[in-house]
Amino acid sequence: SESLTVAELAKKLGREPSEIIKKLFMLGVMATINQELDKDAIELICAEYEVEVEEEILVDKTDLEVYFEPEDETLQEERPPVVTIMGHVDHGKTTLLDSIRNTKVTAGEAGGITQHIGAYQVVENGKKITFLDTPGHAAFTTMRARGAKVTDLAIIVVAADDGVMPQTVEAINHAKAAEVPIIIAVNKMDKPSANPDRVMQELTEHGLVPEAWGGETIFVPISALKGEGIDALLEMILLVSEVGELKANPARRAIGTVIEAELDKGRGSVATLLVQDGTLHVGDPIVVGNTFGRVRAMVNDLGRRVKDAGPSTPVEITGLNDVPQAGDRFVVFEDEKTARQVGETRATSALQVQRSEKTRVTLDNLFDQL
Ligand code: GTP
Ligand code: MG
Repeated sequence: SESLTVAELAKKLGREPSEIIKKLFMLGVMATINQELDKDAIELICAEYEVEVEEEILVDKTDLEVYFEPEDETLQEERPPVVTIMGHVDHGKTTLLDSIRNTKVTAGEAGGITQHIGAYQVVENGKKITFLDTPGHAAFTTMRARGAKVTDLAIIVVAADDGVMPQTVEAINHAKAAEVPIIIAVNKMDKPSANPDRVMQELTEHGLVPEAWGGETIFVPISALKGEGIDALLEMILLVSEVGELKANPARRAIGTVIEAELDKGRGSVATLLVQDGTLHVGDPIVVGNTFGRVRAMVNDLGRRVKDAGPSTPVEITGLNDVPQAGDRFVVFEDEKTARQVGETRATSALQVQRSEKTRVTLDNLFDQL
């Protein structure tokens, strides 16, 4: 198709849609934000901005946001928080993730076989919490580099016998840059050498002042190894989440982010998706990064087949025609035809960018490729 909507063109030009609409109006064209513009109109607008039509402008590798529908806030409901655990090497991140999963997941879900899909959900006081169990740093660096914001809250684990270390500081900086609230889990409290006061003192120097000392940072003493303090930690997560008023609209078409993906011998492309808004259904036409398909089967973190996945839910899906990358965004489309079109265009564009990062193309040959 030789067209872009006003919104898409605005995005590619790095302008506000309203500005493009105004320019079009000056040129005698009445347009709305979702209006399809033909080649001539696009060229006119590009000329207005003295923009040479280059691949960088017309090829958008990772950003699917243009296809997101505007949010109807009246339909939004509370959604579970998505939590990432970070901290210095050996301070107990994996032990904590395992401890939360073991005490919370298997207890209530008899018969459910937990499987590794890169994220899991637990229930505390009747409320769900989603944990990403990909390494915390990766969740922040890879995903954020790709423009995805997946985390609502960061748990920073600090071993009470070791104190603040370089990667602790790095984790604090990641969380601050992402503007997500931080909860400090002071771990290894079972050790005789544990010194939580030292941890509080050291973190105060990094601007994280404990509530006990008049600050705002929540510190929770835990022993990940012995499973102590886990409930208190989960309750604090819920408390902090409530303040954040996390909302989503379960009735809309799903959007979200790829947590991990791989090629499975038997099942083909397998991707763990975090649904961030809307509800994902089996059968949905979907574009994921530069690939597309139809959701063939969905499996939750307990290894159970599910038909629907609401906001903040991690699910593993099959049915994509290629393997996406962690951090890729996904969008569900109304019909398969559009999903295919968008997916194929993005795949072609991505290939071309790979082949020649900087080659200039004219609108003519770009549209020939579409
Ligand atoms: P990396 O993934 O290598 O960065 O480490 P990690 O942060 O995931 O730490 P991990 O959970 O692997 O724990 C490191 C070591 O600390 C292991 O030997 C754990 O058994 C031990 N450990 C973790 N939590 C506790 C705890 O609460 N008490 C004690 N005594 N040991 C703990
Ligand atoms: Mg680990």
